[in-house]
Amino acid sequence: MRRVTVTASRTYDILIGRGLINDAGKWIAQAVKPCQAALITDDIVDGLYGGTVERSLKENGFGVHKFVFPNGEQSKTWQVLGEMLEFMAGEQLTRGDIVVALGGGVTGDMAGFAAAVYARGIRFVQIPTTLLAAVDSSVGGKTAVDLKAAKNMAGAFCQPSQVLIDCDVLEKLPDELVGDGAAEIIKYGVLADRDLFETMRRGRLMENLEDIVEKCVTIKRDVVAEDEFDNGARQCLNLGHTLGHAVEKNSNFTLTHGKGVSVGMMLIARAAWKKGYSEENLVPAIEEAVRAYGLPTKTDYSPEELARVALVDKKRRGGEITLVVPKRIGKCDLIKVPVGELAGWAAQED
Ligand SMILES: NC(=O)c1ccc[n+]([C@@H]2O[C@H](COP(=O)([O-])OP(=O)(O)OC[C@H]3O[C@@H](n4cnc5c(N)ncnc54)[C@H](O)[C@@H]3O)[C@@H](O)[C@H]2O)c1
Ligand SMILES: [Zn+2]
Repeated sequence: MRRVTVTASRTYDILIGRGLINDAGKWIAQAVKPCQAALITDDIVDGLYGGTVERSLKENGFGVHKFVFPNGEQSKTWQVLGEMLEFMAGEQLTRGDIVVALGGGVTGDMAGFAAAVYARGIRFVQIPTTLLAAVDSSVGGKTAVDLKAAKNMAGAFCQPSQVLIDCDVLEKLPDELVGDGAAEIIKYGVLADRDLFETMRRGRLMENLEDIVEKCVTIKRDVVAEDEFDNGARQCLNLGHTLGHAVEKNSNFTLTHGKGVSVGMMLIARAAWKKGYSEENLVPAIEEAVRAYGLPTKTDYSPEELARVALVDKKRRGGEITLVVPKRIGKCDLIKVPVGELAGWAAQED
């Protein structure tokens, strides 16, 4: 088992290994004394792992109060969050109790938010069951629900007390969910780690799963330690996301997040090369990497459409937008661009 320690407003361990979910209660008891646990999960994950985690928590002295919601982004709302909080109150959870988030990013973000606000804040543990949640959303303490105007528009920074990543769970994921996580992993490679990028480019994710998960959470850990509240350096994690999110939104979220990020990275790499920001043309390398996981490289939306949608993004500050621009594999810069120039960064061809 590997252990990555995050030092932020709360210090906690990310445990990465095989079969961890079977002993979830034992691992959690290392971070949190046995107490009452609100086990929060969606219907799909409940069917796969709910029973295992519940049993292990009980065997290790935790009381379990399970809350299951319908899977998918459409559940990431105030309404479901409210039901979750009312459930916790109905079960009489107190300040000393915990939330266990078992599932993908939707579960982690929403259960984390519930923990952040219930009784003015209780502790929570993340057990990510998607690759995206393992390498990205479960680490770093951003919690949220969606508003009608924008995704993740209401939330709180709240660090978990522990993250348990079971690579046996990740290995069994369907291809589409592997692709979504792969897009984020390729992003980490482009941002900070050439070896990681090359491993992904060769399609060797599954053979190196534990190494790769450890590298990604370590990169994210370091970024979060520098800028927990997202005022500067943490923005680099948005590589491919400004335009990628616009692609996702324009498709009415029929395209998954990873697919949007994949196209977003391609667009920004192409523009960065054409505008002279990159030291080499990264488009062919990124294209090869994303293709290895069945991710798209192009979109039918026009640059103007993408720019318009991207500018509703909450990361916009005043008349400028911050873009993450790749210089070479392993090194990206943050640059500020006037909003009127954004479409020029979203062109697919000459
Ligand atoms: N907090 C952050 O820093 C952060 C970062 C990135 C993304 N996010 C958020 O994460 C969410 C996306 O995450 P996601 O893709 O994990 O979404 P998700 O939680 O909706 O999971 C995707 C689907 O996979 C299913 N699933 C989960 N685990 C499974 C398993 N082991 N086997 C089979 N099916 C499984 C779920 O039931 C769901 O239908 C978005 O809401 C996004 O905003 C947050
Ligand atoms: Zn992302």
